[in-house]
Amino acid sequence: MWPLVVLLLLASASCGSAQLILNKTKPVEYTNCNKTVVIPCFVSNVEATTLDDLYLNWKFGNENVLTFVGSQRTSTTGNNFSSASIVPEALLEGTASLKLDKSDAVPGNYTCEVTELSREGEAIIELKYRVVNWFSPNENILIIIFPMLAILLFWGQFGVVSEHSTARSSGLGLIVVPTVILILLQYAAFMIAPAIGMSFFSIAILILQVLGFVLSVVGLRLCILECVALHSPLLISGLGIIALAELLGLVYMKFIASNQRTIQPPRSK
Ligand SMILES: *[C@@H]1O[C@H](CO)[C@@H](O)[C@H](O)[C@H]1NC(C)=O
Ligand SMILES: *[C@@H]1O[C@H](CO)[C@@H](O)[C@H](O)[C@H]1NC(C)=O
Ligand SMILES: *[C@@H]1O[C@H](CO)[C@@H](O)[C@H](O)[C@H]1NC(C)=O
Ligand SMILES: *[C@@H]1O[C@H](CO)[C@@H](O)[C@H](O)[C@H]1NC(C)=O
Repeated sequence: MWPLVVLLLLASASCGSAQLILNKTKPVEYTNCNKTVVIPCFVSNVEATTLDDLYLNWKFGNENVLTFVGSQRTSTTGNNFSSASIVPEALLEGTASLKLDKSDAVPGNYTCEVTELSREGEAIIELKYRVVNWFSPNENILIIIFPMLAILLFWGQFGVVSEHSTARSSGLGLIVVPTVILILLQYAAFMIAPAIGMSFFSIAILILQVLGFVLSVVGLRLCILECVALHSPLLISGLGIIALAELLGLVYMKFIASNQRTIQPPRSK
């Protein structure tokens, strides 16, 4: 007698609520920064207490992404989705979310189809790809302009130096070298130029330049670490400071040079 009652109860339980209810989810986004992509799928009325009763199928259009057969505890993935995975145990709590490597993720509509004995339900979740720009157009302009400005200003100084010294032709190809070399060159310029050397001003300008360089390197490093350039202001201010230091260096050296001329007038012209 008892077994029959239990059977009847079980039958009424599974027929009573014929559908599994899957939560509606908003489209999910991924960017170049996501290593993996999770497409959410939640069932709010799972009653199964063992995976044996559950079956899950993820599809992308007509393509099979992943099939999980609870009674066999096996997941099989579609050809183009070899990285697809789920957490089987989480199914009993109603979580059927799919995890994919970014390389396998294709934007579009994914179907999550869950079956528990005779009940079933499905949900469609849209996966979107969002392009993240590292820098805004304005930031891009600054990032290009500041180093160019710094190099031009440095060349200006070099012009001042070479009026006075023999170190005339060294430093071709400076246009492409990184800004750290500008600092060394700034140092060299101060040393080559007569009557400058390591004065208070030249040291201050060098320190400013090192500071700018550190800021831009730290900014760049943080930008790279965080994938999206949250720290671009740091990078840009670093480059800006380097350019500023070059400007100060140029002004300073022009100033010294003109002072020198008044003392000992130029030989020619
Ligand atoms: C799904 O929806 C139900 C009812 O709307 C809610 O109680 C439950 O917390 C939701 N589950 C998840 C995982 O969002
Ligand atoms: C992508 O990564 C972001 C940030 O870590 C996260 O909030 C988002 O849910 C991820 N997108 C997907 C589809 O997994
Ligand atoms: C896998 O992707 C390729 C192109 O990316 C497509 O031609 C092929 O039909 C896909 N495989 C399946 C099983 O749909
Ligand atoms: C996914 O489905 C939604 C709603 O049905 C639709 O608006 C959207 O265009 C679809 N997305 C793609 C990429 O097919």
